[in-house]
Amino acid sequence: MTRLLLLLALLAGGAGASNAQQLLDWSADEIASVGQHGPWPPPPVRDPSNRVSGMPAGILLGEHLFNDLRLSGDGRMSCATCHQAGRDWSDGLAKARGNVELDRRTPTLWNVGYLHWFGWDGAGDSLWAQSIRPLLDPREMNGGPARPATLLRSDAQLACGYGKAFGEKPGIDDEKLLVDTAKALAAFQATLVSPRTSFDDFRDALVAGDRDRAARYPLAAQRGLKLFIGSANCNLCHLGPRFTSGEFGDVGIPFFVRPGEVDTGRHGGLGRLAASPFNLLGKYNDDPTGASARRTRHVQRQHTNFGEFRVPGLRQVGRGGPYMHNGSVLTLEDVVKHYSEVSPDRLHSDGVPVVRPLALSKEQSADLVSFLRTLDTEVPPRPAAPPLCP
Ligand code: HEC
Ligand code: HEC
Repeated sequence: MTRLLLLLALLAGGAGASNAQQLLDWSADEIASVGQHGPWPPPPVRDPSNRVSGMPAGILLGEHLFNDLRLSGDGRMSCATCHQAGRDWSDGLAKARGNVELDRRTPTLWNVGYLHWFGWDGAGDSLWAQSIRPLLDPREMNGGPARPATLLRSDAQLACGYGKAFGEKPGIDDEKLLVDTAKALAAFQATLVSPRTSFDDFRDALVAGDRDRAARYPLAAQRGLKLFIGSANCNLCHLGPRFTSGEFGDVGIPFFVRPGEVDTGRHGGLGRLAASPFNLLGKYNDDPTGASARRTRHVQRQHTNFGEFRVPGLRQVGRGGPYMHNGSVLTLEDVVKHYSEVSPDRLHSDGVPVVRPLALSKEQSADLVSFLRTLDTEVPPRPAAPPLCP
């Protein structure tokens, strides 16, 4: 009898008969829209403003520096304290904890090399400029401007690694060494590309017209994806292979930090960007063509930037949380509830009202979450970096 059942199961759809799925109808437009969320992994990028970008010796030096506690004022904090490899390069906290609690959440560093604005407020226009702030910020590593230089000059391994990466010995110019430290850190971070997930298999199969393989993708996720690219309009902002435009938006997350004080988001970020000696218009940009500074040259602060935050990418999103720039939304279910019920009054009045309460049913909300979870996958533990100069 059991044998007969097994045979029937096999006939009904192979070994995984109990998981047998089906494929919803996908229109040509929908298939094109799904296809835009790939390919994955994307081709590697090289940052022309950073002369060690993409170079193995720079990447290795960066990985060592990323984990080096000595870059902090009290010797107890490294980049990896908040951006932990085992926690998808974040820390699981609602708000980052440095020497004090910060007002914002630690973002993941997955796929950070593909962005063009950095930080929740876009105060950084390059990955290396963004990497300088935590080294100096008294609330974070509080290292002081000369610490990286002193360390690079005094530690034989780091000095040797620096020589391999930059083709010279660490010199006497402290600020140059601070920037070079950040450039090595950036070269390393740009290698952090999240792995393929079941969504990527589905997308490739759907685009290739391989119905059998596409049908392995759970039905709930298929329905959720249809909402994501369809009536829920999520891909207006969460677009492309990384599920972000890399730009900024206001989705109605309150930006009060404490009574009487607000986080002005993009508005303040643009002010800090313009004031930074390390922006791409400054002398540390290694790109002789100047093309990399195009965005920085042309960006203009507008009133609508008030309370805007950068659209986060959604790969590995279900493994993170709490969510949003201030960690104020606990779970993915709560995020979807937020979009379902968002109060129009909360949305910035003079922005274009792209976000409106979606009033999703219970099933639709669950489907959206099911889809979002297919953007996650397990990541094997990261092996220790090889020595700089064995
Ligand atoms: C105390 C915790 C903490 C430490 C230590 C820390 N970070 Fe961060 N990191 C954050 C927070 C919080 C943000 C968001 C900052 C913002 O929006 O202003 C952030 C943002 C970033 C970003 C921007 C990511 C994005 O999506 O735009 C990069 C890159 C980054 N950190 C790299 C580093 C590097 C490199 C170091 C070490 C030199 C470091 N961080 C140390 C908490 C930390
Ligand atoms: C107008 C652009 C826009 C639209 C449309 C939009 N989002 Fe977002 N999304 C954002 C921005 C901006 C944030 C960050 C807001 C903040 O931190 O204050 C965000 C945050 C998120 C987060 C939290 C990620 C994290 O790491 O904290 C998730 C999940 C998310 N959105 C999913 C969705 C889904 C699902 C939809 C469709 C129902 C959607 N978004 C529609 C712009 C948008």
